[in-house]
Amino acid sequence: MPVSELAGSTAVVTGAGRGFGRGVAAELIRAGARVLGLARDREALEKARADLGDAFVPVPGDATDPGLAADLLARHAPRTVVLAAGATPAMLPLQDHTWETFSAAWDTDVRHVFGWSRAALRQPLPPGSTVVAFSSGAALRGSPLSGGYAGAKAAVRFVAAYADGQSRRHGLGIRFTALLPSLAPTTDLGVGAAAAYAAYEGITTEAFVDRMGPLLTPQAAGAAVLELARGQRTDALAYGLSADGLTPLAD
Ligand SMILES: NC(=O)c1ccc[n+]([C@@H]2O[C@H](COP(=O)([O-])OP(=O)(O)OC[C@H]3O[C@@H](n4cnc5c(N)ncnc54)[C@H](OP(=O)(O)O)[C@@H]3O)[C@@H](O)[C@H]2O)c1
Repeated sequence: MPVSELAGSTAVVTGAGRGFGRGVAAELIRAGARVLGLARDREALEKARADLGDAFVPVPGDATDPGLAADLLARHAPRTVVLAAGATPAMLPLQDHTWETFSAAWDTDVRHVFGWSRAALRQPLPPGSTVVAFSSGAALRGSPLSGGYAGAKAAVRFVAAYADGQSRRHGLGIRFTALLPSLAPTTDLGVGAAAAYAAYEGITTEAFVDRMGPLLTPQAAGAAVLELARGQRTDALAYGLSADGLTPLAD
């Protein structure tokens, strides 16, 4: 796929109120895109607009609502769709989870990636568009304190690959990719996870974070998404993501 510029294009980012989603929205805007930013917290979205300017269009709503996904895609035909919304996992040993806490990432992360990918294929989005779904490095290594999170993130990676297969099969020209970031205590979710694993090991959060080395920031996550959205990286269906950037993963 040829490298394309994003200036003047429209993007949708779920989970744009904070964390990686907000970092992705900021980088897309720096690249000249208009970003429809989705999250449930209106105040967080208004703050993002105040910080990022009028190119950020707040869309308060629940990313798991399939009607909202279909409506936004049909009305705006975005060139770039970034699925970064995610439930904050309850950090507990397995026996302290309930089914509700265990399955939270299935009900939000998997459900919304399924709903938006389905809507993107059924509409379909214009050829040359890109859908990036946030999975997690936990999908490769497990995450023993976060219940069903790692399995849900493996399912996100599968859904992106299935969707990409359907796009190829039907000649739609939509590219679906999964990103598997490493643990990053630079977002609310990552801070909570790092604190829980530190406490489990009996060390301070500071000591736990110190030994991680360079940390993946929301800005760096946004820069990695730009590479995918511009078509600069097409060598894999899924990528690991760390402070060092993208690493293509074998299928
Ligand atoms: N940080 C890490 O260490 C890490 C590592 C690997 C993967 N990830 C993944 O990266 C993605 C972003 O994580 P993050 O660390 O940036 O998390 P975060 O700081 O907790 O941000 C999550 C965002 O998702 C939104 N959200 C949650 N449920 C939603 C829903 N039903 N509808 C709409 N928006 C919803 C939240 O806003 P509202 O609550 O206002 O809706 C928030 O804006 C997630 O998929 C996460 O699993 C994170």
